[in-house]
Amino acid sequence: MFSKSVVTDLPVTGKRVVVRVDFNVPLEGGVVVDDARIRAALPTLQFLIEQGARVILISHLGRPAGAPDPAYSLAPVAPVLSGLLGRPVRFVADTVGPEALALSRALGDGEVLLLENVRFYPGEKANDPDFARKLADLGELYVNDAFGTAHRAHASTAGIAQYLPAAAGLLMAREIETLGALFADPKRPFVAVLGGSKVSDKLGVIRKLIEVVDTLLIGGGMAFTFEAARGNGVGASLLEADWVDPCRELLALADEKNCQLLLPDDYVVADAFAPDAATQVVAADGIPESWMGLDVGPATTQRYQAVLASASTVFWNGPMGVFEMPAFAAGTRKVAEAICESDATSVIGGGDSAAALAAFGLTDKVSFISTGGGASMKLLEGAELPGLAALDDTERI
Ligand code: 3PG
Repeated sequence: MFSKSVVTDLPVTGKRVVVRVDFNVPLEGGVVVDDARIRAALPTLQFLIEQGARVILISHLGRPAGAPDPAYSLAPVAPVLSGLLGRPVRFVADTVGPEALALSRALGDGEVLLLENVRFYPGEKANDPDFARKLADLGELYVNDAFGTAHRAHASTAGIAQYLPAAAGLLMAREIETLGALFADPKRPFVAVLGGSKVSDKLGVIRKLIEVVDTLLIGGGMAFTFEAARGNGVGASLLEADWVDPCRELLALADEKNCQLLLPDDYVVADAFAPDAATQVVAADGIPESWMGLDVGPATTQRYQAVLASASTVFWNGPMGVFEMPAFAAGTRKVAEAICESDATSVIGGGDSAAALAAFGLTDKVSFISTGGGASMKLLEGAELPGLAALDDTERI
């Protein structure tokens, strides 16, 4: 049950509502190339506009160094949002300060103002109380709809909530409810697919998944630290040497909990990290010195496809290989297709897996795609999300 106040509980009409959104979208040459995160915020924004709220949008984009940097400006987002909302969106090239304050105060009912990248100020990541207070001064109510950034304790995601009535947006509520329900009473077999480059980022969630799922399929760069843990050489593949012991413990935990943890049978290895590198398929215990694994091999995908075909619930986070390069995309594509073709309820943990689905044209074929990569991992491992914890509690039946 969602225990936080939601935007629909707030008296928003005629009020200045500061909304933290996650418009951290990919840009190429100053153009938004994937608007999924902007679309995901539309239900909350449309609700606020219909109710006659005065909407002030705060977001970050990328990881600028706490100072203005044109490469990370949110300016290209304003016309995209305007097109999606079908109404003007005013952009101001600052986040706080006299101009932002004056424009926020001048908003009419149902009007929308997008502020410049909040990470242009060092006080954002430092969760500086003075900066949080300046953000709060822009409005009368606060809504956090930035699920993708809910695992950050920043001024615009956590600190600001001390100064204003603070509620979750509709996206935030949906993400928490959907991801929360995944572990509550999943239909079985429950299969999780985990990939991506680093195992060190995902230890907590792997531990949790081992307790909940029936089968855990491992791929991606993280598989090589598991290979080292089971005694295989990994050549020049990605290896987190400090995490070999924890991976060994996870393998033992999976045995103990009767979770079937599958590692790849084979890999596509390359002689360089390049799209045109020489490649070969080798067994998991036969990776040659100085070759690097950049995708799972065909025997692995076949085995993983068979497991996924009979799943009733699937959770997927992280690609099986370097899918951005066609030579190393097959593992991720085939696993994605198997998830889409199965009858399972499929929940995708954001980040690169969402990007992979989009690249393969499969976005509409899964049950739910989280807008949060890191945030969804933190939530599933059971960690508190500061951006959620900071919101007002509500008594709900
Ligand atoms: C994301 O893309 O995962 C979120 O927008 C958070 O971004 P961050 O990892 O830079 O905090």
